[in-house]
This record gives sequence, C-alpha cells and structure tokens, in this order.
Amino acid sequence: MSKVLVLYYSSYGHIETMAKAVAAGAESVPGTQVDIRRVPELVPEEVARKSGYKLDQDAPLIDGPEALVDYDAILIGTPTRYGNMASQMRNFWDMTGGIWAQGKLNGKVGSAFASTATQHGGQETTLISIHTMLFHLGMVVAGVPYSCPELSNMEEITGGTPYGATTLANADGSRTPSENELTIARYQGKHVAELAAKLAG
Ligand SMILES: Cc1cc2nc3c(=O)[nH]c(=O)nc-3n(C[C@H](O)[C@H](O)[C@H](O)COP(=O)(O)O)c2cc1C
Repeated sequence: MSKVLVLYYSSYGHIETMAKAVAAGAESVPGTQVDIRRVPELVPEEVARKSGYKLDQDAPLIDGPEALVDYDAILIGTPTRYGNMASQMRNFWDMTGGIWAQGKLNGKVGSAFASTATQHGGQETTLISIHTMLFHLGMVVAGVPYSCPELSNMEEITGGTPYGATTLANADGSRTPSENELTIARYQGKHVAELAAKLAG
C-alpha cells in the first residue's frame, strides 16, 4: 500500500478540478490510498467573497506540515501568481523547515500541476518554481512523460506540459479545464502513484 497526497490551492476552482483529476489517476493504481487536501486561505474572507473566490471546496485543510511525512508521494497544485506558485501554497511550504532539517521528505516522489489565465502566462516557470523547492526537500521529481499522447495535441488550444499538467482559465476565469487537460492530469496522477508504489517497494 502506498499513500499519495494531492495538495492544492485554488481561488476560483480550476485547480480544484485539476486536483480531482490528478487524484482519480492516482486512485486507478491498485494498492494506492489517495488523500486530497487544501492549504489554508490567506486572503480575508470579505475580500475573497468580493473577488468571487470559490469558497465551497469540499477538500479538508491539511493538518500542518508534519502531515506530509505520512505520504510516499505528494502532488502540488497551484494557480500561477506572476509565474510563481500562489503565496498560500508558498506560505504552507515555508513552514516545513523542521521536516526539511530532519530530511523527512527525502526520497518521496514530488510533482506539480498548475493553472494560468493565458497561454503563455507562466505555466512552466510556476511548475519549475515548485520543482526547485522539491529538490531542496530531497524529493524525487516527476512530471508527465511524452507517452501521454494528449501532450502532443495540436488540434486545439490546450494546457499540458512535460513538467506537469496545466490548464488555462482565461482572464475572466470563464474557461474550465478541457478533457485534454484533465486526461493529462489523470495521467500524471497515475504516473506518480506507480512511481510511489515502486519506491515504497
Ligand atoms: C495576483 C495574480 C497574479 C496572476 N498572475 C498571472 C500570470 O502571471 N499569468 C497568468 O496567466 N495568469 C495569472 N493570474 C491568473 C491566475 O493564474 C488564474 O486566476 C488561475 O490560474 C485560476 O486558477 P484557480 O481557479 O484554481 O484559482 C494571476 C492572478 C492573480 C490574482
């Protein structure tokens, strides 16, 4: 039995949808237990309401950084903020100094997925900003292999990168994750769960 965590932050629900697809892919691997958790919101509730944030997300909040230690693999999902992970996600990981110092995440699989408003709005830089952190934490970084055919789909505008699954939200948030993007997200979840099972041995 291996344990996979899908840990995400989402203001408007695009990454929430992607997180569910990533989790479904991981769950398709026999012997895998998958938990979906959110990191805490930092924006005051009144501001979040006025900004139209999706506040009714059913995933529970993660129970502090120590909870990470229970998992064999962790997939991190975040919308981009100027080409980087959202501060809500950064804030959570800024509290992992203690487990970093003890090498408690060494050898676990780490992976990332992201969302941008626009096609060239920083998907890869956001994913790589997470990868950099995962390397510091001693984790084994995984993306999406090109054996996933949807990565090479040129028939439509689509997210999806070898660094991790992505979606495009549009500037007004009106676009929802496409079937092509969700298929890549499921592929990533399955790939990471298979790696976790191998490493957990
Ligand atoms: C402060 C801020 C900065 C943002 N920076 C970018 C950006 O650099 N590139 C981009 O394409 N979208 C940018 N966005 C749009 C968000 O990435 C978009 O709303 C998000 O991907 C939607 O995902 P969600 O529904 O899970 O929150 C930004 C949004 C905010 C609020």
